[in-house]
Amino acid sequence: MPRLDRAVNIADLRRMAGRRLPRPIFDYIDGGADDEVALANNAGAFGRYEILPDTLVDVSAIRTETRLFGQPAAWPLVLAPTGLTRMFHPDAEAAVARAAARHGLPYALSTMGTTRIEDWARNFAGPRVFQIYVFKDRGLTTEFVQRCKAAGVHGLALTVDTPVAGNRERDRRNGLSLPPRLTLSSLMSFALHPGWSLPALTGSKFDLANVSHRVDVLAGQSMSLFDYIGAQFDRSVTWKDVEWLAAEWGGPLSIKGVMTPEDARRAVASGASGVMLSNHGGRQLDTAPAPVDQIAGVRDALGDSVEIICDGGVRRGSDVVKALALGADGCSIGRPYLYGLAAGGEAGVDRALTLLRSEFELTMALMGVNDVERLERRHVRRSPLAGEGGPKGRMRG
Ligand SMILES: Cc1cc2nc3c(=O)[nH]c(=O)nc-3n(C[C@H](O)[C@H](O)[C@H](O)COP(=O)(O)O)c2cc1C
Repeated sequence: MPRLDRAVNIADLRRMAGRRLPRPIFDYIDGGADDEVALANNAGAFGRYEILPDTLVDVSAIRTETRLFGQPAAWPLVLAPTGLTRMFHPDAEAAVARAAARHGLPYALSTMGTTRIEDWARNFAGPRVFQIYVFKDRGLTTEFVQRCKAAGVHGLALTVDTPVAGNRERDRRNGLSLPPRLTLSSLMSFALHPGWSLPALTGSKFDLANVSHRVDVLAGQSMSLFDYIGAQFDRSVTWKDVEWLAAEWGGPLSIKGVMTPEDARRAVASGASGVMLSNHGGRQLDTAPAPVDQIAGVRDALGDSVEIICDGGVRRGSDVVKALALGADGCSIGRPYLYGLAAGGEAGVDRALTLLRSEFELTMALMGVNDVERLERRHVRRSPLAGEGGPKGRMRG
């Protein structure tokens, strides 16, 4: 087990995760679609904004509390939904949930998660969000809504950027399958990472816990994620379905994967209470814009009352500050907490959240803003160097 306190930033946790995981599993977390342009740009775009500080402000106390999905959050961060979590650490969603609860942050369970909604909700005291993919078996969506209501889920996020699976070439090269399977080419990598492989082979069975009772195509066999999504996800979903879902659910509903002011308006007109600006962490449509660059336009289109979460590319607490100044209500992270989970289970997720939170507060203090409510657009600007690829940081991308 690596000494987690040696990780001073998310990039360190990423390196630790890379050492602990067999290559195909690490690549599944780390990789993106096609040429990984969107993946690199999501993080890189934050580096192209500069922070304009106020000086001589009393920053002896910094107020970070806010509300997301109608629930209190200790600071404006959400743990985004990530599928297949048990592949990264045997403690899976339970470990993430414990760390998120300790930090007072919302956590979204994925449709493709490896823990049942009911078990997760029972053990996660924080703000509970469930992420929905619409399957061809439409009855499953109705079932999700009913189960979420019964389990006390606070908000839903409908992911709309995955009508088909993105072209993730790392996974194709590695022959990644569900559940992970030993192939001749991956055998070496699995054998060289017994810290991952032994618990994975001896622990509880890998299961898409929320869908397998209705679509158990994996029973006894394995297939690529690409084929699974192609076979099971419904490509015919439209805004009419959002209207239906909003009415059926009746609570906070965010549309995850919206990228333009026009779609953001449609989302609200269809009954959503918020949008998650997202390109799925660069895993779906490559060369989609960076979510952070879309915030200001979407905020101007929607006005103040609609919740905007900027999803993707956050690797520093200062990134969250920038997103808020541009008009977002919060940010969400996927890989940063998964790197932590892979590196050290619950303690690793805890480390990721601690690092980001302290960077967030440090940035607020250094820029002379003592309350998240007081972050304004005047606090950020595009760097004059932005056209030349932006200022060069140490760990963007
Ligand atoms: C390993 C992994 C699995 C993911 N699974 C899902 C999922 O099941 N549903 C979903 O809506 N998004 C999924 N995402 C996307 C995340 O919710 C989020 O949009 C993305 O990770 C944000 O970018 P970041 O990793 O740069 O923070 C996944 C991302 C990763 C890295």
